[in-house]
Amino acid sequence: MEAQNQNQMKQAAAMYAVDTYVQDGMVVGLGTGSTAEFAVKRLAEHFNGGNLKNIRCVATSDQIAAMGRLFNLPVHDSNEFVQVDVTIDGADEIEPKSFTLLKGQGGALLREKLVAAVTRMEVIIADESKLVQQIGQNFPIPVEVTPFAWSQTSLRLQTLGASPLLRPSKNNPEKPFITDGNNFVLDCRFANLSDPERMANLIKSVIGVVEHGLFINMAHRVIIGSHDAVYEVTR
Ligand code: 5RP
Repeated sequence: MEAQNQNQMKQAAAMYAVDTYVQDGMVVGLGTGSTAEFAVKRLAEHFNGGNLKNIRCVATSDQIAAMGRLFNLPVHDSNEFVQVDVTIDGADEIEPKSFTLLKGQGGALLREKLVAAVTRMEVIIADESKLVQQIGQNFPIPVEVTPFAWSQTSLRLQTLGASPLLRPSKNNPEKPFITDGNNFVLDCRFANLSDPERMANLIKSVIGVVEHGLFINMAHRVIIGSHDAVYEVTR
């Protein structure tokens, strides 16, 4: 898929999501990643143009908080709210029948899940390359772990059938990638992921695991930008 086209699809899905699901006065979750950034820009257009001037935002990463502020959006501490009205976020894989998601290639999975967990309407936006038959088809499962004794946590994950790889830093591949929560990420390929919900529970029960990138029953809407249209996936 050509990058220019893919960006147009992401942007079209983002614009549709903001224009359809965000109303003035709402608390809005800002997702992380290149697709979610298009939604931040669209929100900022409305906010700075006088529509949606009473929205308040919470961010799912330091990076998107900085971008939101750069675009003049009111980014608040997430502790100020018990509920978020709508969050617009991306995904790495989407299983359309169940709306199961794989997230975390950008490393923001913990905050993305924390915000999604209190969101009334979690809207996932993506280009059509993100739709998959089975979760784990294109990407490993990112598992955020405490740096202390991470190699022992990795061994425990191997007993579940994972082949974990410590994610390297983008700037210095000799060093591990560090999340906003100061943790490491183990990218885990599984030989068999036919039951993602079961695996999600098993991974979560491993000592040393902080969170993982399987999002089960968290998405309410999935919006896809394709070559010729934007459409909502129906389950
Ligand atoms: C970050 C994420 C992103 O939403 C996911 O990686 C999709 O990113 P992009 O829109 O750039 O493809 O989960 O942790």
